[in-house]
Amino acid sequence: MALERTLSILKPDATQRNITGQINAVLENAGFKIVAQKRLQLSAAQAGAFYAVHKERPFYGELVAFMTSGPVVVQVLERDNAVAAYRDVMGATNPANAAEGTIRKMFAESIERNSVHGSDSLENAANEIAFFFSGLEIVA
Ligand code: CMP
Repeated sequence: MALERTLSILKPDATQRNITGQINAVLENAGFKIVAQKRLQLSAAQAGAFYAVHKERPFYGELVAFMTSGPVVVQVLERDNAVAAYRDVMGATNPANAAEGTIRKMFAESIERNSVHGSDSLENAANEIAFFFSGLEIVA
């Protein structure tokens, strides 16, 4: 399997509850290496641009409001098959549907306050990583 990188966001519900370390412990135990990381307060313009693919969805406004309601931690994860493996460990978008042992089952509060974001394809991972990080900020 190929070594891949994917973008991870620890969302405001996670920073507000001070559980970013607990979430990252799950990730490190699952074999992910955090090769870049920073804590940011996103503006509405930044959050809106990041989630532009969801612009026409009914939840877009609430999503942008939530993602700007407190700090986020953006990070790059590296592992074999990282994109699919991270989506597996995150669990379903709605924690009501998430499997036992997944991050969203353990930590998420609702479909909106679902603790983590992850890229959904290798192509999107490259775009999402470039949205937040320069090459100099990623150290394997
Ligand atoms: P994420 O993986 O960050 O990508 C888009 C986010 O929109 C998703 O996680 C959810 O947290 C959020 N969201 C809010 N409401 C909905 C909804 N009804 N359906 C899908 N995603 C939603």
